[in-house]
Amino acid sequence: MEKIVAAITAVNGWVPEYILSNTELEKLVDTTDEWITSRTGIKERRILKGKGLGSSDIATEAVKGLLKKRGIGPEEIEVVICATTTPDLVFPATANIVSDKTGMKNAFGFDLNAACSGFLYALVTGSKFIESGQYKKVVVIGIDKMSAIIDYTDRSTCVIFGDGGGAVLLEPSVDENGIIDSILCSDGAGRVHLHQKAGGSVLPSSHDTIDAKQHFVYQEGQAVFKFAVTKMADVSAQIMERNNLTANDIAWLVPHQANKRIIDATANRMGLGSEKVMLNIQKYGNTTNGTIPLCLWEWENQLHKGDKLVLAAFGGGFTWGSVYLKWAYDGSK
Ligand code: ACO
Repeated sequence: MEKIVAAITAVNGWVPEYILSNTELEKLVDTTDEWITSRTGIKERRILKGKGLGSSDIATEAVKGLLKKRGIGPEEIEVVICATTTPDLVFPATANIVSDKTGMKNAFGFDLNAACSGFLYALVTGSKFIESGQYKKVVVIGIDKMSAIIDYTDRSTCVIFGDGGGAVLLEPSVDENGIIDSILCSDGAGRVHLHQKAGGSVLPSSHDTIDAKQHFVYQEGQAVFKFAVTKMADVSAQIMERNNLTANDIAWLVPHQANKRIIDATANRMGLGSEKVMLNIQKYGNTTNGTIPLCLWEWENQLHKGDKLVLAAFGGGFTWGSVYLKWAYDGSK
């Protein structure tokens, strides 16, 4: 039997309207636009404002647009995988909430948590459902409302993160284009450098955990940076090597947007000029699971059938990985 290839057949993104600029942050913490721009590449980020709104609301907008673009009804979707680090609730899964809000009533869904590498993990997981031959329409969501777990008095984290994300539809490819190869890695020892201390089963929420600000992102920036810069570049070079890809073959690098310096190091290692690198960190900051689908969405109209893309990410866990895919449709149509 011929191998089934999973292809991305539609992409959509969504970001909230409210813009939090570096200038605004200068009023909140001891920082400068110059420091943030030169150390991270970020100029502004989006924040989801409004009581009672969560990650599922970002995902719902993204998924509604996705289905409309592809011209299919929500009831046709069979599987929903939601990569998020900021689920609406501890349980049930945000995927189920999104399915309910969008009418994907015939799908089973679950969340996947691999911090900033979550979308890549979810994309690979979704592709396996397609490759199995059992499912034909899988929605993969990468979404975060990072503002829910950011301390806006901590200058080392509040300048980095933002809210937003997107979704893709996976279907069996009609030709050889689609997801060709992937490398996913993790190292749990890295958890000490990047985590949220309270709200889980080890340290449940209490007055003490709130007073100690333990419900926010804790990050040892430099330690994480050192790992990220090496691992994201390594895993991208590795996927090129084992698929015999040269820099000339690659149309686009789609990197997780955590820090422009990490992205530059990855592109350098791959021998790619900046004209082949999707970069929107200046507008959205690090939306964690949201960055890669947001890039694909923004660049969709420049993508051509057969374009070779390398997707790469690094995140808390530590987790990291790369995906090599051949784009399956002309995005300009
Ligand atoms: N404004 C001004 N100064 C600041 C700021 C700020 N916003 N933040 C930190 N500083 C200061 C520090 O206090 C320090 O001052 P000191 O030298 O007097 O002690 C100095 O700047 C340097 O601090 P570093 O932390 O060493 O700064 P660095 O250049 O490493 O940049 C950053 C920090 C941007 C966080 C960087 O380390 C980084 O990008 N790390 C990797 C992030 C990442 O990839 N995370 C994984 C994905 S996220 C996820 O999975 C949820």
